[in-house]
Amino acid sequence: MLNRQGRSTSAGDAGLQDHPTFTGNRALMIEEPLLFEIGRLDRTGVDFDDPGDFAPRLGDLERKEAIGLPGLGEPETMRHYVRLSQKNFGIDSGLFPLGSCTMKHNPRLNEKVARMPGFADIHPLQPVSTVPGALALIDRLAHYLKELTGMSAVAMSPKAGAHGELCGMMAIKAAIAARGESATRTVVLVPDSAHGTNPATAALIGFTVEAIPVRADGTVDPADVEAMLGPHVAAIMLTNPNTCGLFERDVVAIAAAVHAAGGYFYCDGANFNAIVGKVRPGDFGVDAMHINLHKTFSTPHGGGGPGAGPVVLSQRLAPFAPLPFVAAGTEGLELVERAADAGDARPFGRLTAFHGQMGMFTRALTYMLSHGADGMRQASEDAVLSANYIRVGLMDLMSLPFGDQPCMHEALFDDAWLKDTGVSTLDFAKAMIDEGYHPMTVYFPLVVHGAMLIEPTESESKASLDLFIMALRDLAMAALRGETERFSGAPYHAPRRRMDETRAARQPVLRWTAPAPLPLAAE
Ligand SMILES: Cc1ncc(COP(=O)(O)O)c(C=O)c1O
Repeated sequence: MLNRQGRSTSAGDAGLQDHPTFTGNRALMIEEPLLFEIGRLDRTGVDFDDPGDFAPRLGDLERKEAIGLPGLGEPETMRHYVRLSQKNFGIDSGLFPLGSCTMKHNPRLNEKVARMPGFADIHPLQPVSTVPGALALIDRLAHYLKELTGMSAVAMSPKAGAHGELCGMMAIKAAIAARGESATRTVVLVPDSAHGTNPATAALIGFTVEAIPVRADGTVDPADVEAMLGPHVAAIMLTNPNTCGLFERDVVAIAAAVHAAGGYFYCDGANFNAIVGKVRPGDFGVDAMHINLHKTFSTPHGGGGPGAGPVVLSQRLAPFAPLPFVAAGTEGLELVERAADAGDARPFGRLTAFHGQMGMFTRALTYMLSHGADGMRQASEDAVLSANYIRVGLMDLMSLPFGDQPCMHEALFDDAWLKDTGVSTLDFAKAMIDEGYHPMTVYFPLVVHGAMLIEPTESESKASLDLFIMALRDLAMAALRGETERFSGAPYHAPRRRMDETRAARQPVLRWTAPAPLPLAAE
């Protein structure tokens, strides 16, 4: 059967084969067309006055034809976006156990403060003299980030974790250049278990990446690092807690060995949420570390623009931090925009047009001030407690790749327990969608076969964790009983069934083409 948009409603739409509807909708599950399919080129939602005669100043650049955007009225526009939002799983819809991504609750207080006109309505091109409050806010947030990490400086402008990695590694590159060692220090060591952005960042700015093998307990062995060190090594990029959800207990020895060999220690701080208020990365010898404000300090992932990934820097790297930065001047705080005004510092350049993401800064500072030091420490403790609660609640059914040892903020399972069941990690994850959960992170870290990385965060109640554990236990027992059908076609109850993800990634269809007209009823 074709629905009103001419799409087949039978393929993959469970339930519709038996009880087809004219619209293709299933009660509240509405088939939402594209804006191009519901809008009209000759319609607009607002009335504009005729511009009258005016002399165009665009010369050859003046547009001669309509741009071709569909026009919609306000109610249609509202419905379109509300319906789309209802198809999306978000942190406000349910437990979002995506490991490594720390999908923690975004407190509404943050939103309220970020929307206060004094913060929300300022513009990056306003004269700096009119925004002393913004500079003070950035400076205060920077102060707490340095305090919590035990580091000397912080570059506030990077827009995400990966961007922060780029910033930190560019500072390291600049420091090596200042030592006259650019030609020789060309190698960056990265453990096998690292997030892909680590080797990608190092390679992007011209370093050669060498992989450190992960030892049997899921951590890095300092002896393996020492064996790889030498005058050719620029830096190590190490994540702590690491992507297997384990604390790198030899981190101090590793940092000392890297420093003794003349290299720098870049720490991937994506998992800082597990250790805030418990340990300061500066104390274990870190030279640069990015902090994903959207993971550790509760700012939203996306939604409202780019994120923020400030990078804390050691004293050795501080002079190389990028422009612009806030500094104490003779008449209060000022924004240093040019290298000539940077005193003894030697900024490696500029990463962003303006000084970071004000909306995220406001939210992160609100989180810090509303939680206080004890609250932030408790959040980390609760994140670790929740992950261990899940680990212990599932480990009699699902297998742990590194044995029964406490984890940090995320619990990692492999797929050994699924052997000979006919169910794969992907099938299991898809079946979770039918149970109303966003799947956990799967097949990452790469060092673990069929990895399932579950990060509940601190913001789930015990009842919510218990229900999640029971749902996963029920699925696990079904897999072990050989009920493969529950998995092979899953998700059965989602608006769309299983996608060809490889094809979608390799041959993405990014351009809309008008469908053929619907056949007339009589034909
Ligand atoms: C361990 C790790 N490093 C780096 C990143 C990159 O951070 P972002 O997504 O903010 O760019 C992530 C993101 O998930 C991560 O988990």
